Amino acid sequence: MRILLLTHSFNSLAQRLFVTLGAQGHELSVEFDINDAVTTQAVELWQPDLIIAPFLKRAIPEALWRDHTCLIVHPGIPGDRGPSSLDWAILDNEREWGVTVLQAEAEMDAGPIWASELFAMRDAAKSSLYRNEMTDAAVKAVLLAVERFEGGNFAPCRLDHPDPSVRGRERPSVRHTNRTIDWARDNTRTVLRKIHSADGMPGVKTQLFGRSVHLHDAHPANALSGAPGTVLARSGPAIAIATSDSAVWIGHLRNRAAEHSFKLPATRVLADEAAALPETPVDSNHGYREIRYEESGRVGFLHFAFHNGAMGTEQCERLLAAYRHALKQDTRVLVLTGGPDFWSNGMNLNLIEAADSAADDSWRNINAIDDLAEAILRTESHLTIAALQGNSGAGGVFLARACDRVWMRDGVMLNPHYKDMGNLYGSEFWTYSLTRYAGAENATRITQARLPMGAREALELGLADEYFTGPRDSFLDDIAARAKGLAASRDLDALFAAKAERRNADEATKPLAQYREEELERMRLNFYGFDPSYHIARYNFVAKVPKSRTPVTIARHRDTRARNHWRNAS
Ligand code: COA
Repeated sequence: MRILLLTHSFNSLAQRLFVTLGAQGHELSVEFDINDAVTTQAVELWQPDLIIAPFLKRAIPEALWRDHTCLIVHPGIPGDRGPSSLDWAILDNEREWGVTVLQAEAEMDAGPIWASELFAMRDAAKSSLYRNEMTDAAVKAVLLAVERFEGGNFAPCRLDHPDPSVRGRERPSVRHTNRTIDWARDNTRTVLRKIHSADGMPGVKTQLFGRSVHLHDAHPANALSGAPGTVLARSGPAIAIATSDSAVWIGHLRNRAAEHSFKLPATRVLADEAAALPETPVDSNHGYREIRYEESGRVGFLHFAFHNGAMGTEQCERLLAAYRHALKQDTRVLVLTGGPDFWSNGMNLNLIEAADSAADDSWRNINAIDDLAEAILRTESHLTIAALQGNSGAGGVFLARACDRVWMRDGVMLNPHYKDMGNLYGSEFWTYSLTRYAGAENATRITQARLPMGAREALELGLADEYFTGPRDSFLDDIAARAKGLAASRDLDALFAAKAERRNADEATKPLAQYREEELERMRLNFYGFDPSYHIARYNFVAKVPKSRTPVTIARHRDTRARNHWRNAS
């Protein structure tokens, strides 16, 4: 079928549907829901059999849903209605939640139901639940709805009559007062639940040192306690605030009154006050923990859960130090697991945006990430494996590809391109790795298409070596078992010999230093040159400026060649 994805933005769910439905042979095009005229034009150009709306912030125009079947993905159980479904599910401590695919009609979220899926809730931030459990369930429900639609004789179920098995109901937008923290009374669990319900956006508003800030990125700090509401300590980017029974680490804050009103490390937003606080070392047992190393047999595991997968200069340096430490251990295989939500999204664009000189900070950041990538590429003592539990974008993808193996969980999305960030050239030795693993032809395809890709395509194109289809929560165990098998394998010495031989041959053909220099020369132009595109795109990304048009890479209906291609084919 020809399907139009109508969406507020090309978010992780829209990307996943684009990839999954495309792999099933459907022809997909995307239009951002900018205004009714643009949407109507997109429909006229693409003439879709079906419209799917993975992520909308406003109602579909009547002219559209009257003439076309429009399926809305609603992040709630059947019967649930309103714009804050997941927020309420977390606040209400639901142990099971769901996704419903319903047909657009006059009343929002009240149309007939084509499919629904339930999932178990986890104590996690809303964005993490959305990107993981919710997205998996949504993909299943959409595939079922599409199959039913294609079948032609499915009658979607109306919820006109109250059905006792339908637990969902209409709920208003969550207001700030619904999650205001009462520091004197709320225990750590309650505080975490309130912040999780609002994370990534909008965060929970509170007063700290007399300033109004939004709290994000909360974790238990069980070893600490004090007068409730007091800021007790700092650790890396985080500050600890006392709750009624212990404390929470807050990694990131937004101060809407400040010059930079986007999410930044808490110790930066409250720099003066934080400097006077007692320090718990970052990454220590009781501190705010981003990097963790563990071992099992002859395999080392380096976990790095940086918020949003963004890796600033200092984080790259810390990870490089941890990497070097890991290489000194008596192990043969080192697995780099990233974090549960993201493996890496490259340089930290928020920190760069907030720096005195964005160009200087970009330069430092890219060099720090390159130092890490180079250390991985030059590793002789270990077989290195990037194990992607979560999505990865831009430089993060090529940092992963610096490892000897890239293993992915099925369902993980890669965005192996930089150009959308204002024509950024990119570094992380991508010019080496891409040709080396994907081949010249695929390399051009990957960089020019600027599209997200799933595990199967990543494997096909050489960006990954294996993918794992087991349940999400067994991925790390599956990886550990495979890595241990590799470490114990009789072929290990031969693998090391082949690795050394290939690296030496590659180095003789063109040294890594030269790749780095050439890439950085181009990056220098992006950062310091006359063309400000990168700085503008970064500002738009960080400030979340809504897109004014859909890129033609995904709005295929606006690409005359693609349109003619399917017209001729059909
Ligand atoms: N620096 C800072 N924040 C980043 C980031 C980065 N490199 N990459 C992602 N984020 C943040 C987003 O701002 C968003 O923040 P939120 O918590 O306020 O919502 C969150 O991570 C999730 O990102 P989002 O863009 O909503 O996820 P997505 O799945 O829709 O898209 C990407 C994934 C990777 C395509 C997209 O995030 C992206 O383009 N990131 C920038 C990559 C880049 O250009 N890096 C620099 C070059 S190495």
